[in-house]
Amino acid sequence: MTQRPYIVGNWKMNGMRAMLGEARAIDRAAERLIKAEVALAPPFTMIHAIRREAQLIGVGAQNCQPEDGLEHTGEISPAMVKDAGAGFVILGHCERRAHHHETDAMIKAKAEAALAVGLGVIVCVGETGEQRKAGQAEQAIAARLKGSLPGGDNAAEKLTVAYEPIWAVGSGRTPTPDEIGAVHRMIRSQLMETYGEGAAAVRILYGGSVNVENAAELLSADEVGGVLVGGASRSAESFLGIIAAAAERGS
Ligand code: PGA
Repeated sequence: MTQRPYIVGNWKMNGMRAMLGEARAIDRAAERLIKAEVALAPPFTMIHAIRREAQLIGVGAQNCQPEDGLEHTGEISPAMVKDAGAGFVILGHCERRAHHHETDAMIKAKAEAALAVGLGVIVCVGETGEQRKAGQAEQAIAARLKGSLPGGDNAAEKLTVAYEPIWAVGSGRTPTPDEIGAVHRMIRSQLMETYGEGAAAVRILYGGSVNVENAAELLSADEVGGVLVGGASRSAESFLGIIAAAAERGS
């Protein structure tokens, strides 16, 4: 793969104005570490402020609600996300699937609505610990992916897929590089089946307990085009260690 590794920080429900300094520091480092492509997905409330402060990094959202003719108190549409300065949106994160009851069909609809306004999308899929133990991880991921991927001729152009084992998110545990490689190869072949040749350029990220210590090893797994980082993306210091490991790999 010739693309730069894509390193995305998911701040989840964290981020007050006091954290703008972290975003600024990450942006400044991105100028130096040009062999990695860096992005942050802060809460909605900080998208505009970070976009104004940061020159180089991508800025994205963590969710959006497609317009469907109904009123939606408390929701944010893809067009609003874009208007705030976001260039992409993370969809189908396991926390949204679990705590907000998002189904594959909802994620697909969100992805198609986001692509329709020109946003990039990062579609997350992953298996539970039980599914992995039962030897059903790939089957479970394949089914999730099939249901969640956006349709449309050009969908692959602005698509990224993130493999995030549910048991690895926030737990300090990760699959081995071999296990990650096997899942990523399966995702790649499913993408090729869905989109044809256009899917060769879709980046497949790994996410779940990525930190400064394990980033280089996880990034070395087969078909890993970058990482989606939760906890370790909230301080510039730890996120920069991960970006530096990625820049090293990209050189
Ligand atoms: P984590 O989260 O890095 O804290 O495990 C990853 C994610 O939720 O995207």
